[in-house]
Amino acid sequence: MLEQIEQLLNSAKTSLKDCSDLKTLNDIRVEYLGKQGKITNLLHSMKDVAKEDRPKLGQLINNARNEIELLILNLQNELNEKTLADKISKEKIDIFEPSKQVEKGEIHPLNKVFDKLIDACVAMGFTVLTGPEVEYDYYNFEALNVPKDHPARDMQDTFFISDNILMRSQTSSVQVRAMQSLKPPFKIVSPGRTYRADSDATHSPVFHQFEGLVVDENVSMVDLKSMLTELLKMLFGQNTKIRFRPSYFPFTEPSVEVDATCPSCGGKGCKLCKNTGYMELLGAGMVNPKVLEMSGIDSKKYSGFAFGPGVDRLAMVVNKIPDLRMMFENDIRFLEQFK
Ligand code: DAH
Repeated sequence: MLEQIEQLLNSAKTSLKDCSDLKTLNDIRVEYLGKQGKITNLLHSMKDVAKEDRPKLGQLINNARNEIELLILNLQNELNEKTLADKISKEKIDIFEPSKQVEKGEIHPLNKVFDKLIDACVAMGFTVLTGPEVEYDYYNFEALNVPKDHPARDMQDTFFISDNILMRSQTSSVQVRAMQSLKPPFKIVSPGRTYRADSDATHSPVFHQFEGLVVDENVSMVDLKSMLTELLKMLFGQNTKIRFRPSYFPFTEPSVEVDATCPSCGGKGCKLCKNTGYMELLGAGMVNPKVLEMSGIDSKKYSGFAFGPGVDRLAMVVNKIPDLRMMFENDIRFLEQFK
């Protein structure tokens, strides 16, 4: 028996010495320490040994088992470390390798103009307000001095949801909402989507406007002219000349149309401005006292001015885009030009 224990220990040691991978190591573990393993068998054969020799032999077998277990554990740690080291050396990460070019998105040319307008107006003390796109006829027309039978409705034919509900044809509707919910003095701008039954190179059924409204005591045409001149120069450059022409809107009196020198030719005349040297950019005016009164503002005490550029038109002029509809097609080749 003693010899058997010695032999078993030696053969285990030899196997472990030759072992160089975890799979073989596990086989050795099973061979010696498993349920049917050699050590277990040896323990079973103790029943054939004389009773008085059993404790000593049992002790020896246990010692052998402990020794084998320890050897296996050590070798296992060694092999684990080796496997990890191999893996690390094979899977080297080069932290200095230049990264792949990541495709970067861009702000849409339309939103760039919106952002510029909003930034400039907020810096001048305006608050940003928004209103619903599905709007009551009352806010879009009636409270702006455009009653049901008014001929000015022809210019703003839109999509009706019902007799009294429509897709707003202008952000001027937010003027009414502002006048009815704020106490003067106030200065608001309202960016947003608008709708009309129109479609050609310069008109789209959905387009965008940027409404502005100032109501205070002693607001005059001078305030309107200086504020809009500042805003448009900021957008088109300090050398731009701004021109005000008389116009008509039911909600302003007097009303003006505002032009700026063409950014393409600087005012000399070219194809883009149809040789006029100027581009028509927005409508504006002094708020009609009737409109103030209809929304509960005392027109003897307060006056106001308002303006409402089409933002698509501004983006077209700034970027020399020939067809407005290109801005809504989301053709990546078109959009990439504004990086
Ligand atoms: N809402 C007008 C339009 O769509 C533009 C406009 C004109 C807005 C004069 C105004 C204004 O606020 O005062 O044609």
